[in-house]
Amino acid sequence: MSDWEPTSWKSKPTLQQPTYGDSAAFDEVVQRLGERPPLVTGWEVERLKTQLALAANGDAFLLQGGDCSESFDACRADPIEKKLKVLLQMSLVLVYGLKKPIIRVGRIAGQYAKPRSNDLEIRDGVSLPSYRGDCVNRSPFTSEDRQPRPENLLTAYDRSAQTLNYLRALTEGGFADLKHPENWELDFVTLSSRSDEYHQMVRGIGDSLNFLDVLGGVTRAELSRVDFYTSHEALLLAYEASLTRRAIGRSGWYNLGTHFPWIGDRTRAIDGAHIEYCRGIKNPIGVKVGPSMTPDGLRELLEVLNPDREAGRMTLICRFGASQIQSSLPPLIAAVQSSKQPVLWSVDPMHGNTITTAEGIKTRHFDQILDEVRDSFAIHAQHGTVVGGIHLELTGNNVTECIGGAGGLSSTDLATAYESNVDPRLNYEQAMEIAFQIAGQARGS
Ligand code: PEP
Ligand code: CO
Repeated sequence: MSDWEPTSWKSKPTLQQPTYGDSAAFDEVVQRLGERPPLVTGWEVERLKTQLALAANGDAFLLQGGDCSESFDACRADPIEKKLKVLLQMSLVLVYGLKKPIIRVGRIAGQYAKPRSNDLEIRDGVSLPSYRGDCVNRSPFTSEDRQPRPENLLTAYDRSAQTLNYLRALTEGGFADLKHPENWELDFVTLSSRSDEYHQMVRGIGDSLNFLDVLGGVTRAELSRVDFYTSHEALLLAYEASLTRRAIGRSGWYNLGTHFPWIGDRTRAIDGAHIEYCRGIKNPIGVKVGPSMTPDGLRELLEVLNPDREAGRMTLICRFGASQIQSSLPPLIAAVQSSKQPVLWSVDPMHGNTITTAEGIKTRHFDQILDEVRDSFAIHAQHGTVVGGIHLELTGNNVTECIGGAGGLSSTDLATAYESNVDPRLNYEQAMEIAFQIAGQARGS
C-alpha cells in the first residue's frame, strides 16, 4: 500500500481528539510511546483473524465485552479477575448452547479513550472540557481534572501492559482450566436466578470431559488454557500510530497495541482520519454501525477497508437500538450480500438503547437490550445470514447501572452502585442472562 503510512491520517479531518496545551510535551510522549515494546504480536492478531473468519460463517461465535471506559484505578487484580470470570462463564454457557467455539475478546487493556457529543461540558454555568477517558483527562468536574495531559497516554500504555500481563497469566495458567470452573465462580453467583442451571451445565461439561479423558480425547494442556484477546476503540490516532509496527516475520503494518481495534460510530466518515488509519493496518477491524449508515455508505466503507475481501478482516458491530433495528438492518444486509464482502455480523445491543432518567442518570433497559439481540438473530435468519457475535458493556462487579433483568432493578435502584464514568454496564446477573437467552434460543431452534 504505497500511499499509506502510519501517520498518513494526519492529512484527513480527525474528529474526537483532545486539544493539548503543550504540544512539545505531547510530541515527546508520542516519541516515547514509539520506543515501547508492542503489547501483542502479529501471530496472535492473525490467529484471531482466522477465528473471526469462522464466526462470520457461523462456525464460531464472538463474545466481546468489558467496560465502556476502563479506568486507571481499576487496574487491580480484583476487577480484572471479575471481568475475566464473567466472560469465561458466559462463554461456557454459549459454547454449551451454540455448540461452537467461542472467541473471547475483552474491551480491555487499552479501552481508555471515549468519543463525546460535545467538546465542553457545562454545569451551573461553568464550562470545562468533556471527560474523554483516562488516557486524556479525569472525570471529576474541576478544571484541574479536566485538563488533557499528554503523560496520561504513557500511563494508558503502562496500565494496558499490566492488565494484559495479568490476563495472559490467568488464561494461560490454571485459572481458566475447564476442569476447575470453581476458579471462576463469582461470590454472588449463588444469588443469581440462573445459578442452578449454570451449575447443572458445568457438571454436564465436567462429565463430558471425564468421558473424553477415558477415551483419551483431550489433553490436560488443551483444557487448562483459553485464548483471550484484547480490543479497544481506535480513537486517539497518535496513540494508535505510535504502536503501529512491522510485525516479525510478516509483511505490512500491524497495530500491536491491541488485537482487535474498532472504529466508533462517530468517527467512521469515509474521508476521515480513522478510516485512513485503519485501512493500512492488517489487524481485524470492527466498525460500529448505527442508524445513520446507508447501504451505499457501507459498501464504500467495506471497499476501502477490505478491498481484497479478506475473510476475518471486517466485523460490523451493529448498534441501532431496539426501535430501529427492524428498519435499519435489512437494507444493510442486502448491501453486504450484493457486494460479496465477507463480514462478521455482531450485535451491540447497548449503544442504541441508552436513555437518561428524569434524575439525569444514563441507563439502559434490559428488556430493550434483549429485544435488540432477539431481533438481530431473527432478522439475520430471515435473510439467510448469521449473527456471528455479540458486543456488550459489562462488568463482574455487582453494579446497578442498567434497569431490569432477573434481579428486577428499577430506576430508583440506580444510585445504589452506579460506578461507570461513561455508559451503563450490565452487571453479572444481567450479562449471564443474555448468554442464557442466546444459548436457549439456539437450543430451541
Ligand atoms: C462505545 O462502544 O463505547 C461507543 C462509544 O460506541 P459507539 O461508537 O457505537 O457509539
Ligand atoms: Co459505551
